[in-house]
Amino acid sequence: MGVPKPMADPAFAPATADYQAIVDHALMTTRGVRQRLDFDREVDDRTILDCIDVAEQAPTGGNNGSRRWIIIRDQATKDRMAELYLSAGVDWVIETAKRLEGSGHQNERLMTGARHLGENISRTPALVIPTILGRHDGSGRPGLFDSVIQSAWSFMIALRARGLGTVWTTMYLNQAPAVAELLELPDHVTQICMFPVAYTIGTDFKPTSRRYRAEDIAYFDRFGHTRTPSGPGVVDEIELKAKPNDVRAIIDQLDSSDRQRFDLEQVPGGSRLRLHARVDADTDPATALAEVRATLDEITQRFAT
Ligand SMILES: Cc1cc2nc3c(=O)[nH]c(=O)nc-3n(C[C@H](O)[C@H](O)[C@H](O)COP(=O)(O)O)c2cc1C
Repeated sequence: MGVPKPMADPAFAPATADYQAIVDHALMTTRGVRQRLDFDREVDDRTILDCIDVAEQAPTGGNNGSRRWIIIRDQATKDRMAELYLSAGVDWVIETAKRLEGSGHQNERLMTGARHLGENISRTPALVIPTILGRHDGSGRPGLFDSVIQSAWSFMIALRARGLGTVWTTMYLNQAPAVAELLELPDHVTQICMFPVAYTIGTDFKPTSRRYRAEDIAYFDRFGHTRTPSGPGVVDEIELKAKPNDVRAIIDQLDSSDRQRFDLEQVPGGSRLRLHARVDADTDPATALAEVRATLDEITQRFAT
């Protein structure tokens, strides 16, 4: 694939508002797509290979070509992949989705999407598995994966640019050895994820609201030190084995400073509580952080008793 030339019009080149808008839009609207994959529309090999060419431009340690991409097209192989996907835990997801149907539970939508994919995965025009040559050394450092994750994400964006979509799936990795055998992967090859690739039904995807604002999670010079529009701040967080509503009830009983602000999010097994505090002229960040930690300790204690 040649290098695309979108810059023929000088008004549409890097550092112009138009170019930034398109790139930011692509980055923010490349979503995990399951319910809007068009299983009936063909995808040709060239389109997938072009997306891999784009993805291969991602940064890689040592500037070397250590990724290998497996594109599954054969129906019998897709059928076997579907069986493995279900037996890797997705059959449980399907049962849970059926149970949650119509319940209004906050995970209902996610489960419905996962069920839809689980029930239809063998109908996907292509299943694409990015792999990397090598085995993780167990050092705890990402090392090996540093040179493939960004490429896999670029692949998702390249698909989006062409009207296709996918979702990053890893549940199937519970069956990684069986998949390796099926696809005749050598032992020194590590699978990263599986992408069900199809055209999307419509292309109007929206950014998710389920992310923190940069100013709340970007720390300047020291962990937990923020710069918000209302001035400098500090933040610390804990995870609690309790439902968000129960945590909120405790927070409401606290006599907390008006400099403090809470974020509460449901996470697997409980809640994540983030406590922010403004740093005023009369408080240094270390004192503000100590106050935040004292409040979080108090909340933790209430759940311990
Ligand atoms: C690391 C990772 C693994 C995932 N594994 C699966 C999976 O095995 N099956 C599945 O249906 N969705 C999987 N997803 C999709 C998520 O459950 C979630 O629906 C999706 O990331 C949210 O969509 P969004 O990107 O539009 O916010 C995975 C996502 C990520 C990032």
